[in-house]
Amino acid sequence: MIRSILAGIGAYLPKRIVTNAELAPSVQSSDAWITERTGIRQRHIASAEETCAYMATMAAAAALRDAGATAADVDLVVLATSTPDQAFPATALRVQAALGIHQGAGFDLSAACSGFIYALSVADAMIRAGQARGALVIGAEVYSRIMNWQDRTTCVLFGDGAGAVFLRATAATPGEGKAAAGVLSTHLHADGRLGDILYVDGAVGRPDKPGTLVMHGREVFRHAVNLMAEVVEEALVANGLGQADIDWLIPHQANLRIINGMGNKLGLAAERVVKTVDRHANTSAASIPLALADAYEDGRIKRGDLLLMEALGGGLTWASALVRF
Ligand code: ACO
Repeated sequence: MIRSILAGIGAYLPKRIVTNAELAPSVQSSDAWITERTGIRQRHIASAEETCAYMATMAAAAALRDAGATAADVDLVVLATSTPDQAFPATALRVQAALGIHQGAGFDLSAACSGFIYALSVADAMIRAGQARGALVIGAEVYSRIMNWQDRTTCVLFGDGAGAVFLRATAATPGEGKAAAGVLSTHLHADGRLGDILYVDGAVGRPDKPGTLVMHGREVFRHAVNLMAEVVEEALVANGLGQADIDWLIPHQANLRIINGMGNKLGLAAERVVKTVDRHANTSAASIPLALADAYEDGRIKRGDLLLMEALGGGLTWASALVRF
């Protein structure tokens, strides 16, 4: 029996910060509207040099350093993104080359804001199956490149960044159960019938129509609250755990109202819910690993803690993960 240990965590945020006050006037919005409806106060926006691959590499390198691992320990790179620099090669392989990883496999994965949990699930399954021993799992996004900067209903909501974890295969002792460190479970869902409430109206590699993000926010909001509650319940039941066992909720960071709603539903004290949406805005697949890194770097999250991650994004896709850190 093998399980995946979350051995290291890393993050990268673009240097440039754009506040609501700076952005709002250009789209007839206001700091008050954005803050009240979403909790967002600022976002990081990538420069031309801060590509998806560059940010992912920086985050992945930090995760390896944190784990005390080197390129020789990595035989899988799974990178979740909806904003790759190129249609191919996969951004994961740009990261692989930049870090000097010369063995194993790598690929990108597209599941919008649920991408990181999807990537974690795939990497964990490959480790359990004996197909990999050391996996970099990365969420990296440059949503600023797919924004319609004239559309106030979307452009104020998103930001850029990357987060990564390093998963290490570890022999599991029979009977140690859910008290042992590692990925306890992942639950993934998708419903393609809801593809038209949140999408990009173009594609990478189409210079005539690279595409910008379109979102019917109110409909997405409605689905987000219900589906994320369901997938969290599913995770707890599958592990025989209760709400009281959760040490930290690390939700996708789209909207403070959704995040607080989920925290309340789980009966968690406000300080047990990791929130970065005020500083990072919605960074899609990068948002959960960025939030994880935030709470890890300032010492909130400790070894042995039970982490619950949940997300919903374009597709629709939704997912949860329970990880004993
Ligand atoms: N500034 C000022 N006014 C605005 C802005 C803005 N930036 N944006 C919209 N408005 C206006 C609208 O035009 C509308 O005006 P009207 O009533 O005169 O028509 C009014 O504000 C209300 O608009 P709604 O869209 O109903 O506002 P709502 O309260 O639903 O908030 C929001 C919008 C923040 C987008 C919310 O619906 C939300 O968070 N949805 C979920 C987002 C999410 O979870 N996405 C999933 C992940 S993203 C991914 O996968 C890529």
